[in-house]
Amino acid sequence: MPELGVVCGGLALKNPVIAGSGEHTMTAGGIRAALAAGAAAVVAKSVNENPAARAQLDGTDYLLLDSQWRPLPWDFAPPPDASLFGRSGLMQRDFDSWMEELAGLDAEAARVGAYVIPSLILADLDAAAGMAARIAGYGLRALEFNIGAPHGPEAAAGAIITERAAARVHEITARIRAATPLPLWIKLTGQSEDVGALASAAMDGGADAAIVMGRFLAMVPDLETQAPMLGTSGAIGGAWSLPLTCRCLAQARARCGPGFALLGTNGARSGEDVARMLLAGATAVEMTSAVMAGGFAVVSDAVAALDAYLARKGGDAQGLVGLAADRLQGYGAQAPRPGFWRQFVPPEAR
Ligand SMILES: Cc1cc2nc3c(=O)[nH]c(=O)nc-3n(C[C@H](O)[C@H](O)[C@H](O)COP(=O)(O)O)c2cc1C
Repeated sequence: MPELGVVCGGLALKNPVIAGSGEHTMTAGGIRAALAAGAAAVVAKSVNENPAARAQLDGTDYLLLDSQWRPLPWDFAPPPDASLFGRSGLMQRDFDSWMEELAGLDAEAARVGAYVIPSLILADLDAAAGMAARIAGYGLRALEFNIGAPHGPEAAAGAIITERAAARVHEITARIRAATPLPLWIKLTGQSEDVGALASAAMDGGADAAIVMGRFLAMVPDLETQAPMLGTSGAIGGAWSLPLTCRCLAQARARCGPGFALLGTNGARSGEDVARMLLAGATAVEMTSAVMAGGFAVVSDAVAALDAYLARKGGDAQGLVGLAADRLQGYGAQAPRPGFWRQFVPPEAR
């Protein structure tokens, strides 16, 4: 049996598959189902102090789209290339009762060698630091802090912050680092020119890991109604996101070095995709859309597929981390191939 365990951002994980934060981790039932499916960690639905961020949950709507941007049925059996487009809000529970419940669930998780991780999303930094400072007191064992949620620009002013500036990432991370002794994972936006610089800023600010990378804001015109689908912009991600995430992981690894843990999120749909993100530099992978749209068996299938991949290729999960990233070359390293381009051009244009 290949070794699936990894050490990631201050936690020993029994495998690299994490159920990422979303609507399916908003209830005890969802969290227990993810644990039962074998997730090494479950990141609970995020909370913050802002009433507008909570109110936004009542305006949620989601669409699964095929590769031609046609809506698919939400039947928990989407094709692997479905994109999830939509808008979401934050947990409507009050912070203390949610942390209390999560601490109980984390104690259950510990019995199966797993973790339940609370998540905060940045609105006001003082308020976030205050909440972060209280999390260890509930007995919880780690904190994920999302400063890259895509909905920031569309949310009510100040309700959800999408932080793009490296200097601010450093400042915010240092503030939360000072507030909690727990392993601290900072979740970053992908809507930045230099995600590697953001990861490096999180590392310098004292994070134990950076999560690369949040989804993108999008608008999808509907050919029939000639209006935007769902009426607004929304966040989008799909299988197509994976290569974009992998490049940013590789950039972050080059910038931070192999000693700093990265987690992948945005585009993983299978155990093979988990392996791809590990090869790109992640030590663990958060899967959200695939689980929300496909059900919790996605988690157990991913663990089994990763296991099968390792059995076929040899080695262990930790050993995969960064193998492809460290072989990434610049265009200049490729041998010249004069005239080779012609075979990719329609014959009459050669
Ligand atoms: C409907 C929905 C709700 C989400 N809610 C949260 C959230 O509350 N907190 C958070 O940090 N990320 C949230 N995310 C982001 C996911 O955890 C994940 O990072 C992102 O969707 C990219 O990964 P994926 O391709 O596996 O979905 C949400 C994503 C979706 C689709």
